[in-house]
Amino acid sequence: MTLTPPAVQREAERFLTGMYAEHALEGLEARLRAVGDELSHTGTYTLNTEELRHGGRVAWRNSARCVGRLYWEALEVRDLRHVTAHEEVFAHLCAHLEDAFHGGHLRPLMSVFGPGVRIHNPQLIRYAAYRQPGHPESVVGDPANLALTDWLRRLGWAGGPGTAFDVLPLAIEAGGRTRLFTLPPQAVQEVALTHPDCPAVAELGLRWHALPVISDMSLEVGGLSFACAPFSGWYVQTEIAARNLADADRYDQLPAVGRALGLDTSRERTLWRDRALVELNVATLHSFGAAGVKITDHHTVTRHFRRFEEREARAGREVRGRWSWLIPPLSPATTPVWGRSYRAREEAPNFAHQSPRWLDPEEPASAGACPFHAG
Ligand code: ARG
Repeated sequence: MTLTPPAVQREAERFLTGMYAEHALEGLEARLRAVGDELSHTGTYTLNTEELRHGGRVAWRNSARCVGRLYWEALEVRDLRHVTAHEEVFAHLCAHLEDAFHGGHLRPLMSVFGPGVRIHNPQLIRYAAYRQPGHPESVVGDPANLALTDWLRRLGWAGGPGTAFDVLPLAIEAGGRTRLFTLPPQAVQEVALTHPDCPAVAELGLRWHALPVISDMSLEVGGLSFACAPFSGWYVQTEIAARNLADADRYDQLPAVGRALGLDTSRERTLWRDRALVELNVATLHSFGAAGVKITDHHTVTRHFRRFEEREARAGREVRGRWSWLIPPLSPATTPVWGRSYRAREEAPNFAHQSPRWLDPEEPASAGACPFHAG
């Protein structure tokens, strides 16, 4: 989002006034004067590292769709605004993945890159989707990533081994050129799913990656926009087991899980879908736990969200929320957000959607892109 200088000035004032008040800092007048000077001379201004850190944390605190906001103050914000070259960006993304994973004790982390940098993948780790020759409607992999996979192929990706869980290369744009980079195995931590008492579930060969790192949203702070600011926390098991692996237009695994569990799938009234869904959630929590990888469950995270609301109320701030995103897709009425309602309008600092290149049919994959680089 690009603002006119007066709008940037207003947003800068609003942001800095809020930050100085929250942290009881002195010197607001002087800082606002310096920002005003910089704006009138250059048309923009520069946040210092503390301001960027505060902005990143408050962007998380303000994210109306996120139920995991209790830990917003623990977010580590890496100031990488001096990093603008492909190789260096890629190296820092690998470091982000390894440091955020932290041996399974996942730590919330955001890496903010310099001007002209963008990552076109929606998350750092995403699985490819392959259409089957002769059966265009049947897909191996994650159907959510069909258009992205096609676009990466047009950019020169040769494709992976063809499993249902092939990790896609990263499309990193810098200085107007897009290049592809392959993540090294140590950056891609995954958990294979097993069920505590049904071995047949493990035979389905299901897995998921440990870290959700959203990489295509911009960070909006004080009237400034950072197009490349990937951030990560940890999963709620419902994201994996009640959506990614379960949705009919994603991995669609409930019928297979139902059969593995020996359920009667011939009639809806046996509620085999619901039973398979619960057991797939059990399997996900069990497997992450056994692998020593942090994950939370929908009961705990919603209780934590209520605690976040209480803390925000004590701080005199209103919690905005998108209720349909805050309730879990499994047993929502058993959680303490079910009976609540929230105003949805989001405030800055925040994250904003950027239009994906790979959805634009007019976008020739070669525009500004050099043929192929596997980093
Ligand atoms: N729902 C997304 C996924 O399944 C991840 C969104 C971010 N989630 C998180 N726990 N930080 O990949």
